Amino acid sequence: MISVAILISGRGSNMRALLEACADADFPASVVSVISNRSDAKGLEIAESFNVPTQVIDHTHFGTREEFEEALHEALVDTGAELLCLAGFMRLLGADFIGRWRDQIVNVHPSLLPAYRGLHTHERAIEDGVRVTGCTIHFVRPEMDNGPIIFQACVPVMPDDTEETLEARVLDWEHKLYPMAVRLFAEGRLRVSGHQVMIDGEIESPAGMVSPLINDS
Ligand code: GAR
Repeated sequence: MISVAILISGRGSNMRALLEACADADFPASVVSVISNRSDAKGLEIAESFNVPTQVIDHTHFGTREEFEEALHEALVDTGAELLCLAGFMRLLGADFIGRWRDQIVNVHPSLLPAYRGLHTHERAIEDGVRVTGCTIHFVRPEMDNGPIIFQACVPVMPDDTEETLEARVLDWEHKLYPMAVRLFAEGRLRVSGHQVMIDGEIESPAGMVSPLINDS
């Protein structure tokens, strides 16, 4: 059983999906802490309803990013977390922080990376007229929304989609894939090799998910 900390900034629907997965006695991870950089994050109330300890570390209370990240690092070390899950955590983390947690930070992003890094992914996809978008679960590297990809799922963009309808279709996949990735991490089955992530052994991939890289040797 590994200890997971979830970092949020807002609504917390991905955090909820992780908390629900971890509530299952057979799931090999437990959430030891939810940390938000915003005191008004709606996800904090959800975390409390799961009886998970929450903390607010407000980045605006620190003079520099380094000071904020030092406080965040110390709080995370105190929780005993072995994996950090960014779940709508909208602060860029610096290279020093990421280096201290190398290959122990994962993120979910609502696009098929490297397309549409950053904000307003669905609005931009609709504007561009792309026929397909999706979501990505990846290990975190210092550049925004970048790092070795664990899972991706493709989602069609419908002609009458609004940002909201497309977001809902993509979020369904985010909520499915994030717990799957955390399970594999907890089972020690994710191997980062350069920019790729190999998965040890077969996994059951839901229809629609892009086939992950399997190492079955
Ligand atoms: C999610 O769609 C997540 O993929 C995205 O923010 C949303 C948070 O929603 N993350 C990013 O854009 C990271 N660059 P949630 O708070 O309901 O999980």
